[in-house]
Amino acid sequence: MYIFHDGEIVDSELPAVKALDRGMVFGDGIYDVIKIQDDNFLFLEDHVKRMKKSADFFGMNFPYDVNKISQIGQKLSKMNDLKEGELYLQLTRGVDRIRDHIFEDEYIPTFIEVVQPVRKMDPTIWQTGVRVLTFKDMRHGFCEHKTVDLLPNVLAKKYARTRGAYEVMMFREENGRKYVTEGASSSYIFFDGKNVIASKIENILPGITRAKVLSVAKEIGLNVIERRVWLDEVFEMKEVILLSTLSKVLPIVKVDDVEFKIGDVSKKLGVAFKDFVLSLR
Ligand code: PDD
Repeated sequence: MYIFHDGEIVDSELPAVKALDRGMVFGDGIYDVIKIQDDNFLFLEDHVKRMKKSADFFGMNFPYDVNKISQIGQKLSKMNDLKEGELYLQLTRGVDRIRDHIFEDEYIPTFIEVVQPVRKMDPTIWQTGVRVLTFKDMRHGFCEHKTVDLLPNVLAKKYARTRGAYEVMMFREENGRKYVTEGASSSYIFFDGKNVIASKIENILPGITRAKVLSVAKEIGLNVIERRVWLDEVFEMKEVILLSTLSKVLPIVKVDDVEFKIGDVSKKLGVAFKDFVLSLR
């Protein structure tokens, strides 16, 4: 597979990433994932904007603009003969000469672009819905940014998959009461019978799919609220929906052992989001 690394297109099998890259050694990096659909990079501008915002937040140099990123992605898609899949972007704070927590003020960032086929997914899940398991959110305080230090997310996802579930529903606790944050790589929204409710962005990722689906929801006349969602409330919700770049609008039929129906709101949002994506062509 061909990838873009540090200004060059190289074979992903060959050594390219340096051993002392700060992304590898310290998790000192950020990333983003964009869906490739019909040769298009879906919502590329939004993803790059989010990534650039995080780069600014962490004081990292962001070397390319959206046009350059798109050009490189198109070249990689052609070379890898790929029309559908994922575009992965990663930016780290470059390579250290010797391992040191303290980074230099002057450094050359490492920028990587990878295109790959979509990860293996059962195509029936959007009709059948999936099960998720509640799981303690053990992550850090920078979850509004897509940082590459994903160990808690990786372990959480493994926890779900080894138990036959699709994803975790992570929660944090305040004064003894649990509230929902997000999935290991997805966002959640709920329908309580009246309103579409999205977990407030408080140390969780501002998902691009979440933003698009909420705006589509408003357009089709649904009332949208963003607030903290307590875990005990989840079990009283009428519908639970998972959102992400790869999972799109995915109905949840079970949270732990509590069952949910795939209701009208899940179905309507699934169709409206699909139509919205098609309208962008
Ligand atoms: N993950 N929350 C987390 C922690 C995520 O990692 C993701 C995306 C989302 C959904 O965001 P978006 O709608 O922008 O994809 C929410 C990507 C797909 C990943 O890490 O592969």
